[in-house]
Amino acid sequence: MTTYEHITVTPLSSAIGATIGNVSISSELDDGIIAEIRQALLDHLVIFFRDQDLTDIEHHKAFTKRFGDLFVHPNFDLGQNNPEMVYLTRLPGDKSAAGEEWHADTTMMASPPMGAILYAIEAPEVGGDTLFANQYLAYETLSDGMKRMIMGLRAVHNDTRVAGPAAAKNKKRTSKVREDKNWQATENIHPVVRTHPETGRKCLFLNGVYVHNFEGMTVKESEPLLYYLYDHAVRPEFTCRFRWQSGSVAFWDNRCVQHLALHDNHNMTRRMQRTQIQGDVVR
Ligand code: SIN
Repeated sequence: MTTYEHITVTPLSSAIGATIGNVSISSELDDGIIAEIRQALLDHLVIFFRDQDLTDIEHHKAFTKRFGDLFVHPNFDLGQNNPEMVYLTRLPGDKSAAGEEWHADTTMMASPPMGAILYAIEAPEVGGDTLFANQYLAYETLSDGMKRMIMGLRAVHNDTRVAGPAAAKNKKRTSKVREDKNWQATENIHPVVRTHPETGRKCLFLNGVYVHNFEGMTVKESEPLLYYLYDHAVRPEFTCRFRWQSGSVAFWDNRCVQHLALHDNHNMTRRMQRTQIQGDVVR
């Protein structure tokens, strides 16, 4: 059990998630506080801050940079001035929401982001919560036989379901992705079981949004086992659920967490801004 000198850390569920107190992340923070926040992230996988002010996006970017290089999302790079900032906006009448299915972010990249920092500019009174699932537990709770079977398997990840003309996301929602004719899919292959580069723990690294098949197997051959693992990975006892308020922040470790943005209130206005942090090759 880690003890913290500067911040308070209050777990949200027994599986994942903690609320961090006693810190204003828009301030210049000393290295000792950043080290404690990083440790809390490694211990709890997703950490939450309340009552923050990141209206000045330079503060959001500056806090993010304390944990690594800013990542530019290829599908949200729509020619805006700040390509490192993704705006996830829902307006009344939206039929779909970005991130509404269980996933880890942007795993089609050769080096998927290490994490993401999401800030609520305007949260709805009710609805629009985000759920998070612990992927260490997803791996550790498999039987020894299943662990043996999937160890060494690799999975094909690509972004054809979430961007590009065929995905046709933009007509259903306010948050736009690239759908232009020059868009090209990005595809990479990653191990199904990864070893977290900082904790050394093994976790499941699959998600139903980006993964299509196991390397060397057809989609049809892969699907039965993939569907089993997708369901298993997000069992309720591996999760927590975060209720947003304007000024709340969630910072998740994208290497060992899946998340889902609940699209449960179609009349809501929900405005979020998100940065991502460059990650490593998955091993
Ligand atoms: C995402 O990063 O997938 C969006 C999460 C959210 O809007 O709650």
